[in-house]
Amino acid sequence: MGKGFFISKAVGIAAIIVGAGALATIIALSVVYSQEKAKNNDNVLPTDGGTTSKPPVTTTAPSNEPWDKYRLPKSLVPDHYNVTLWPRLKQNLTTGLFIFTGQSTVEFVCAEETDLILIHSNKLNYTKRENNHLASLTSLGGVKAPSIKSSWLQQVTQYLVLQLDGKLMKDHRYHLHTDFTGELADDLGGFYRSEYMEDGVKKVVATTQMQPTDARKAFPCFDEPAMKAIFHITLIHDLGTVALSNGHDVQKTVFQPTEKMSTYLLAFIVSDFSFINNTIDGVLIRIFARTPAIAAGQGDYALNKTGPILKFFEKYYNSSYPLPKSDQIALPDFNAGAMENWGLITYRETALLYDETFSSNSNKQRIATIIAHELAHMWFGNLVTLRWWNDLWLNEGFASYVEYLGAHEAEPEWNVKDLIVLSDVHRVFAVDALASSHPLSSKEEDIQKPAQISELFDAISYSKGASVLRMLSDFLTEKVFTMGLRTYLAEFAFGNAGYTDLWSHLQMAVDATGTDIPETVSNIMNTWVLQMGFPVVTVNTSTGIISQKHFLLDPDSEVTTPSIYKCVDGLSYFPPLRTINLYVFIISGSDWVLANINVVGYYRVNYDQGNWERLLGVLSTNHVAIPVINRAQLVDDAFNLARAKIISTVLALRTTKYLNKEREYMPWESAVGNLDFFYLMFDRSEVYGPMQDYLRNQVTPLFTHYKSLTDNWKNVPVGHMDQYNQVNAISLACRTGLRECQNLTNQWFNQWMETKLNPIHPNLRSTVYCNAIAAGGAKEWEFAWSQFKNASIAIEADKLRYALACTKQPWLLNRYLEYTLDPNMIRKQDATSTIVYIANNVIGQSLAWDFVRARWSYIFTQYGGGSFSFSNLVNGVTERFSTEYELQQLKQFKEDNAEVGFGSGTLAVDQSIERTIANIKWIAENKQNVLDWFKAEEKP
Ligand code: BES
Ligand code: ZN
Repeated sequence: MGKGFFISKAVGIAAIIVGAGALATIIALSVVYSQEKAKNNDNVLPTDGGTTSKPPVTTTAPSNEPWDKYRLPKSLVPDHYNVTLWPRLKQNLTTGLFIFTGQSTVEFVCAEETDLILIHSNKLNYTKRENNHLASLTSLGGVKAPSIKSSWLQQVTQYLVLQLDGKLMKDHRYHLHTDFTGELADDLGGFYRSEYMEDGVKKVVATTQMQPTDARKAFPCFDEPAMKAIFHITLIHDLGTVALSNGHDVQKTVFQPTEKMSTYLLAFIVSDFSFINNTIDGVLIRIFARTPAIAAGQGDYALNKTGPILKFFEKYYNSSYPLPKSDQIALPDFNAGAMENWGLITYRETALLYDETFSSNSNKQRIATIIAHELAHMWFGNLVTLRWWNDLWLNEGFASYVEYLGAHEAEPEWNVKDLIVLSDVHRVFAVDALASSHPLSSKEEDIQKPAQISELFDAISYSKGASVLRMLSDFLTEKVFTMGLRTYLAEFAFGNAGYTDLWSHLQMAVDATGTDIPETVSNIMNTWVLQMGFPVVTVNTSTGIISQKHFLLDPDSEVTTPSIYKCVDGLSYFPPLRTINLYVFIISGSDWVLANINVVGYYRVNYDQGNWERLLGVLSTNHVAIPVINRAQLVDDAFNLARAKIISTVLALRTTKYLNKEREYMPWESAVGNLDFFYLMFDRSEVYGPMQDYLRNQVTPLFTHYKSLTDNWKNVPVGHMDQYNQVNAISLACRTGLRECQNLTNQWFNQWMETKLNPIHPNLRSTVYCNAIAAGGAKEWEFAWSQFKNASIAIEADKLRYALACTKQPWLLNRYLEYTLDPNMIRKQDATSTIVYIANNVIGQSLAWDFVRARWSYIFTQYGGGSFSFSNLVNGVTERFSTEYELQQLKQFKEDNAEVGFGSGTLAVDQSIERTIANIKWIAENKQNVLDWFKAEEKP
């Protein structure tokens, strides 16, 4: 049973506040360390402090030995760890290195007799202990521990290996002791350092990012999610405030033991950040950030929203927050957006810090949703953890679904729940329609290496996971869904589970409530979870027949990914069709039919030509008769059905004709997203001019609408969605060359350059900066760059970083590309996204591609921290690819770098090739039609 609210044990994860200080011993240690590093030319080799010879290190290709397998044997089970870590926040001036030292004792139970200890360890150097070995072993309970026969580090599989001269005995407990040193590098993984300037002084933070497999870079551990244990953490750090930082005092902070938890959720941070706090029902909530950010009130929004969101999830899960405190900290260098370390959530600054004068409504929404997402994990993921990474989709998909529920609680006026359709359903439809997609669920044995685990953090896991869970919750009803969820959490609290365990609990809830569903939860969900892709349902209103088939963007592509169910026409793919009332909602207007209301179902819909015509008729005469979300969906479905050659491209284009009357955000956003594809395909061709003319005509009424709504751009629209759509109006109007828009943005930007007072509302800054920089030259660029470098809040810097990529000057773009790989110019965390911004610019596209091709192995080795960034990079720089020549280059790129590899971007390379092939065909088949259509539309 889950532990409830009255847990008195405090969690041992905390941020600690210290000042900077230098210690002579640090220098001594780091000299030793760097000498060793230099000798070995590789920092994963063991060290003995320079006093004894090196133990063997193996780098050979995997054999069948246990240490060549990526998964731990089942013989040893950790119970608890005592870990002391001492990060040095001062650089050793001789070696140029930052390091940390540590000691660890892990108590484990022997579950099966064995004479081998394997424990994860990566890039750690060990000080030799008894008999020159890398660790020492003692036993508990009187018996003598076997001696260590040999010990070495297995680099490829990331183990510390200890061979014993006798067996460990079943059910006996042992202690393994180690002393080690690691580099506190700026590599955004494991125990790493983040740097920032404050009052002209460089400051260093030691922080961690363990998920998925970097806890082993901080201390030797059984680094698998099911190897839950209790962690007793002690951090050694400088004492006092900045003023005392030259003193030699150090202090120890001993944290209360953690709950039983997985290694990937650990966090240790040493900083001299400030915090604000409040307490809600006995839970201490703190927001940490750089002192000036906290002083400027930038943590206030997060602090105000955390309590209500936490309360919401307690109710939703029917489970008290399992820890006594909830810390959240904004870090200047952080690879992902945020990380759900239990009780100490880490964020990028842009994902946590809010400032009225700099943050847009979109920034604010991201903060509310990301907090909700990470807090949702405190139970789903942290309290109950998936057994192995192959089920990652359930963890991330679930949090990505309920983040909308949590954000809705924080900001009920926003209608944020609707946005899942654009941000997740539509987003993932684009990749899940490729033959190179993959099912949500992977086989456990297929996910072994760290890169394979990292690759799972993709749009399928996040957005398809979220979409199918939303569908499931909707069709079971929220009452039944939460009932099953609650018993699932209660049964597996502090333990591990698999996705089928959730299905069992949902089934129990279905049975207990007598809910009438046509198949078991498991049967229904298997079709969505075990096979890739999704169906297109065709509703034929003339025959009354509803049919379905696997939707493939390129109908000629070959589906080779094995799946249990074949993706064939007919009912086997999509059992819910047998329960059409549950999944396909049909509103019948006078003579039209609309399916998949609010896009609750994870599928696209096609109709017979007659019904399409009637829907177009409603759009043009009375578009509000169709719900807003479905207006967005009609546009998205039509464009994608056209790309798949199921309907004509002209029919898709016709869904945009009513837009001159549309004022709502979602349909516009959907149209802009789809028209982006047209820009990508045609912004280098003769279609461009007539397309611009047509779109300018369509968007002008929206632009005028906002001009009058805001009293000539003086006010801000009231509604959240309206604020978003105002941005669309300006972006598209300027993009299509509406003079008034261009004058407006240039004038605002010039005013800023001249007066140094920024007159631009935060909501509009990204697009205004981008347009002004595109229209300007070096002067505008340099001004924006200096503003970027001096920005006091990351959210403003990010808007500028994006806009700097909009210049039309190739030399500025090339120089900017060079900056992306210089961490003094662009932080490592931002490198790949900046390259992608540049590639989005039609002038920057080929420059970015050449740059990435030329530097791939450097980028890959230096920026390899496992998260989303590589797949985004590969997809981003190849998005416009639509010629044979580009396809050849892409294939060549794949071949040339086969040895270096693509890590978490591996799948993205295949997706890009497939997309390029589809684009080539699409242009060949559609260019003339599209050109003719735009031209005809221009005529009065
Ligand atoms: N667990 C992830 C963070 C993560 C991602 C760690 C990839 C390691 C590799 C976290 O819960 C997460 O999903 N963060 C998202 C935010 C969310 C709102 C989608 C992120 O970082 O963007
Ligand atoms: Zn997550």
